[in-house]
Amino acid sequence: MNGLFITFEGTECSGKSTQISLLADRLRSMGRSVRMFREPGGTPIGEEIRHTLKHSAANHAMMSETELLLMNASRAQLVREVIRPALAAGEIVLCDRFHDSTIAYQGYGRQLNLKLVQQILDFAVGSTRPDLTLLLLVPHEVSEDRRLARQSTMPFMRDRIEEADRSFFELVAKGYHAIADADPQRVRPIDGTGEVNDIRATIWKLVEPFLAEKKAGQLT
Ligand code: TMP
Repeated sequence: MNGLFITFEGTECSGKSTQISLLADRLRSMGRSVRMFREPGGTPIGEEIRHTLKHSAANHAMMSETELLLMNASRAQLVREVIRPALAAGEIVLCDRFHDSTIAYQGYGRQLNLKLVQQILDFAVGSTRPDLTLLLLVPHEVSEDRRLARQSTMPFMRDRIEEADRSFFELVAKGYHAIADADPQRVRPIDGTGEVNDIRATIWKLVEPFLAEKKAGQLT
Protein backbone atom coordinates (compact mmCIF):
# COMPACT_ATOMS: atom_id res chain seq x y z
CA MET A 1 0.00 0.00 0.00
CA ASN A 2 1.43 3.36 -0.95
CA GLY A 3 -1.21 5.73 0.44
CA LEU A 4 -1.10 7.48 3.78
CA PHE A 5 -3.52 6.66 6.61
CA ILE A 6 -4.05 9.27 9.34
CA THR A 7 -6.57 8.88 12.17
CA PHE A 8 -7.95 11.49 14.57
CA GLU A 9 -8.87 10.49 18.11
CA GLY A 10 -10.13 12.15 21.28
CA THR A 11 -13.03 12.34 23.71
CA GLU A 12 -16.34 14.07 22.89
CA CYS A 13 -16.08 17.57 21.36
CA SER A 14 -12.29 17.58 21.26
CA GLY A 15 -12.26 19.46 17.93
CA LYS A 16 -11.46 16.48 15.68
CA SER A 17 -13.97 17.26 12.95
CA THR A 18 -12.83 20.87 12.58
CA GLN A 19 -9.18 19.84 12.36
CA ILE A 20 -9.83 17.03 9.87
CA SER A 21 -11.60 19.45 7.54
CA LEU A 22 -8.79 21.99 7.84
CA LEU A 23 -6.16 19.36 7.11
CA ALA A 24 -8.12 17.97 4.16
CA ASP A 25 -8.49 21.49 2.69
CA ARG A 26 -4.78 22.14 3.00
CA LEU A 27 -3.79 18.83 1.44
CA ARG A 28 -6.26 19.30 -1.42
CA SER A 29 -4.97 22.82 -2.05
CA MET A 30 -1.56 21.20 -2.61
CA GLY A 31 -3.10 18.92 -5.24
CA ARG A 32 -3.24 15.82 -3.04
CA SER A 33 -6.08 13.33 -3.32
CA VAL A 34 -7.78 13.00 0.08
CA ARG A 35 -10.62 10.78 1.37
CA MET A 36 -12.39 11.53 4.67
CA PHE A 37 -14.36 8.99 6.70
CA ARG A 38 -15.88 8.75 10.16
CA GLU A 39 -16.37 5.90 12.58
CA PRO A 40 -18.72 4.36 13.33
CA GLY A 41 -20.04 4.95 9.81
CA GLY A 42 -18.37 5.95 6.57
CA THR A 43 -20.22 3.43 4.37
CA PRO A 44 -23.99 2.96 3.83
CA ILE A 45 -23.90 -0.13 6.08
CA GLY A 46 -21.72 1.63 8.64
CA GLU A 47 -24.05 4.65 8.77
CA GLU A 48 -26.98 2.36 9.58
CA ILE A 49 -24.92 0.77 12.36
CA ARG A 50 -24.00 4.28 13.60
CA HIS A 51 -27.68 5.16 13.89
CA THR A 52 -28.34 1.99 15.88
CA LEU A 53 -25.40 2.67 18.19
CA LYS A 54 -26.08 6.33 18.84
CA HIS A 55 -29.55 7.56 18.01
CA SER A 56 -32.07 4.74 17.52
CA ALA A 57 -35.07 4.95 19.85
CA ALA A 58 -34.66 1.23 20.48
CA ASN A 59 -31.03 1.24 21.65
CA HIS A 60 -31.49 1.88 25.41
CA ALA A 61 -30.85 -1.71 26.45
CA MET A 62 -27.67 -2.18 24.38
CA MET A 63 -25.08 -4.33 26.13
CA SER A 64 -21.40 -3.35 26.11
CA GLU A 65 -20.54 -6.54 24.20
CA THR A 66 -23.11 -5.65 21.52
CA GLU A 67 -21.65 -2.16 21.32
CA LEU A 68 -18.16 -3.62 20.85
CA LEU A 69 -19.28 -5.92 18.05
CA LEU A 70 -21.32 -3.27 16.23
CA MET A 71 -18.41 -0.80 16.32
CA ASN A 72 -16.22 -3.45 14.76
CA ALA A 73 -18.83 -4.57 12.23
CA SER A 74 -18.95 -0.99 10.96
CA ARG A 75 -15.14 -0.91 10.92
CA ALA A 76 -14.73 -4.23 9.09
CA GLN A 77 -16.98 -2.88 6.33
CA LEU A 78 -15.21 0.49 6.15
CA VAL A 79 -11.75 -1.07 5.96
CA ARG A 80 -12.64 -3.42 3.11
CA GLU A 81 -15.11 -1.30 1.16
CA VAL A 82 -13.23 1.99 1.11
CA ILE A 83 -10.03 2.36 3.16
CA ARG A 84 -8.00 -0.44 1.57
CA PRO A 85 -8.96 0.48 -2.01
CA ALA A 86 -8.15 4.16 -1.33
CA LEU A 87 -4.75 3.34 0.18
CA ALA A 88 -4.00 0.92 -2.65
CA ALA A 89 -4.73 3.75 -5.09
CA GLY A 90 -2.16 5.90 -3.24
CA GLU A 91 -4.68 8.29 -1.69
CA ILE A 92 -4.50 10.01 1.69
CA VAL A 93 -7.15 8.66 4.05
CA LEU A 94 -8.23 10.80 7.03
CA CYS A 95 -10.45 8.99 9.50
CA ASP A 96 -12.43 10.57 12.35
CA ARG A 97 -11.82 7.79 14.92
CA PHE A 98 -10.54 4.25 14.26
CA HIS A 99 -9.43 1.25 16.33
CA ASP A 100 -8.00 3.28 19.25
CA SER A 101 -11.56 4.47 20.00
CA THR A 102 -12.52 0.87 20.70
CA ILE A 103 -9.67 0.40 23.17
CA ALA A 104 -10.50 3.70 24.89
CA TYR A 105 -14.34 3.45 24.94
CA GLN A 106 -15.11 -0.28 25.07
CA GLY A 107 -11.86 -1.46 26.69
CA TYR A 108 -11.30 1.29 29.29
CA GLY A 109 -14.70 3.05 29.39
CA ARG A 110 -16.96 -0.03 29.41
CA GLN A 111 -14.24 -2.10 31.08
CA LEU A 112 -14.48 -5.06 28.74
CA ASN A 113 -11.60 -7.53 28.76
CA LEU A 114 -8.78 -5.75 26.92
CA LYS A 115 -7.34 -8.93 25.39
CA LEU A 116 -10.71 -9.88 23.88
CA VAL A 117 -11.29 -6.33 22.66
CA GLN A 118 -7.89 -6.44 20.97
CA GLN A 119 -8.67 -9.78 19.30
CA ILE A 120 -11.97 -8.52 17.93
CA LEU A 121 -10.47 -5.40 16.50
CA ASP A 122 -7.54 -7.33 15.05
CA PHE A 123 -10.15 -9.42 13.21
CA ALA A 124 -11.96 -6.28 12.01
CA VAL A 125 -8.94 -4.36 10.71
CA GLY A 126 -6.33 -7.03 9.89
CA SER A 127 -3.13 -5.34 8.82
CA THR A 128 -4.78 -2.00 8.00
CA ARG A 129 -3.27 0.31 10.62
CA PRO A 130 -2.80 4.09 10.71
CA ASP A 131 0.60 5.58 9.89
CA LEU A 132 -0.12 8.49 12.23
CA THR A 133 -2.75 9.16 14.92
CA LEU A 134 -3.49 12.69 16.13
CA LEU A 135 -4.95 12.56 19.62
CA LEU A 136 -6.77 15.74 20.65
CA LEU A 137 -7.00 16.04 24.42
CA VAL A 138 -9.44 18.31 26.29
CA PRO A 139 -10.40 18.16 29.98
CA HIS A 140 -13.88 16.80 30.74
CA GLU A 141 -15.25 20.26 31.71
CA VAL A 142 -14.23 21.73 28.34
CA SER A 143 -15.74 18.77 26.51
CA GLU A 144 -19.04 19.17 28.44
CA ASP A 145 -19.20 22.96 27.88
CA ARG A 146 -18.65 22.48 24.15
CA ARG A 147 -21.23 19.70 23.98
CA LEU A 148 -23.88 21.83 25.70
CA ALA A 149 -23.06 24.82 23.47
CA ARG A 150 -23.40 22.60 20.39
CA GLN A 151 -26.71 21.21 21.63
CA SER A 152 -28.13 24.70 22.04
CA THR A 153 -27.49 25.52 18.37
CA MET A 154 -28.82 22.28 16.87
CA PRO A 155 -32.12 20.43 16.93
CA PHE A 156 -31.91 17.95 19.83
CA MET A 157 -30.85 14.45 18.82
CA ARG A 158 -30.48 11.87 21.56
CA ASP A 159 -27.01 10.25 21.69
CA ARG A 160 -26.80 7.07 23.78
CA ILE A 161 -23.03 7.19 24.22
CA GLU A 162 -22.91 10.86 25.23
CA GLU A 163 -25.46 10.06 27.97
CA ALA A 164 -22.77 8.19 29.94
CA ASP A 165 -21.63 9.75 33.20
CA ARG A 166 -18.42 11.57 34.02
CA SER A 167 -16.66 8.50 35.44
CA PHE A 168 -17.06 6.75 32.06
CA PHE A 169 -15.39 9.64 30.20
CA GLU A 170 -12.62 9.77 32.78
CA LEU A 171 -11.89 6.11 32.08
CA VAL A 172 -11.96 6.81 28.33
CA ALA A 173 -9.41 9.62 28.83
CA LYS A 174 -7.23 7.25 30.89
CA GLY A 175 -7.45 4.77 28.02
CA TYR A 176 -6.26 7.36 25.51
CA HIS A 177 -3.27 8.25 27.69
CA ALA A 178 -2.37 4.56 27.94
CA ILE A 179 -2.64 4.18 24.15
CA ALA A 180 -0.35 7.18 23.60
CA ASP A 181 2.18 5.88 26.14
CA ALA A 182 2.24 2.44 24.50
CA ASP A 183 2.83 3.71 20.96
CA PRO A 184 4.51 7.14 21.11
CA GLN A 185 5.86 6.91 17.56
CA ARG A 186 2.40 6.68 16.00
CA VAL A 187 0.12 8.40 18.52
CA ARG A 188 0.74 12.14 18.98
CA PRO A 189 -1.14 13.82 21.85
CA ILE A 190 -2.16 17.42 21.13
CA ASP A 191 -3.62 19.99 23.55
CA GLY A 192 -7.12 20.50 22.15
CA THR A 193 -7.90 23.57 24.31
CA GLY A 194 -5.76 25.99 22.25
CA GLU A 195 -6.76 28.25 19.35
CA VAL A 196 -7.99 26.44 16.24
CA ASN A 197 -5.17 27.92 14.13
CA ASP A 198 -2.46 26.97 16.63
CA ILE A 199 -3.74 23.38 16.72
CA ARG A 200 -3.85 23.38 12.94
CA ALA A 201 -0.18 24.46 12.82
CA THR A 202 0.82 21.77 15.34
CA ILE A 203 -0.95 19.12 13.28
CA TRP A 204 0.69 20.33 10.09
CA LYS A 205 4.16 19.97 11.64
CA LEU A 206 3.35 16.35 12.48
CA VAL A 207 1.87 15.52 9.07
CA GLU A 208 4.42 17.21 6.79
CA PRO A 209 7.28 14.68 7.24
CA PHE A 210 4.94 11.87 6.12
CA LEU A 211 4.12 13.74 2.92
CA ALA A 212 7.74 14.15 1.97
CA GLU A 213 8.43 10.52 2.78
CA LYS A 214 5.47 8.93 1.02
CA LYS A 215 4.36 11.27 -1.78
CA ALA A 216 0.90 9.89 -0.94
CA GLY A 217 -2.10 11.35 -2.73
CA GLN A 218 0.09 13.12 -5.29
CA LEU A 219 -2.04 13.75 -8.37
CA THR A 220 -0.05 13.50 -11.58
P1 TMP B 1 -18.62 10.98 17.08
O1 TMP B 1 -18.55 10.62 15.62
O2 TMP B 1 -19.48 12.19 17.31
O3 TMP B 1 -17.28 11.08 17.70
O4 TMP B 1 -19.44 9.80 17.79
C1 TMP B 1 -18.96 8.52 17.82
C2 TMP B 1 -19.22 7.95 19.21
O5 TMP B 1 -18.91 6.56 19.20
C3 TMP B 1 -18.36 8.58 20.28
O6 TMP B 1 -19.14 8.71 21.46
C4 TMP B 1 -17.27 7.56 20.51
C5 TMP B 1 -17.95 6.26 20.20
N1 TMP B 1 -17.08 5.18 19.70
C6 TMP B 1 -16.86 4.06 20.50
O7 TMP B 1 -17.37 3.99 21.61
N2 TMP B 1 -16.06 3.05 20.03
C7 TMP B 1 -15.51 3.08 18.77
O8 TMP B 1 -14.80 2.14 18.38
C8 TMP B 1 -15.78 4.24 17.94
C9 TMP B 1 -15.20 4.31 16.56
C10 TMP B 1 -16.56 5.26 18.45
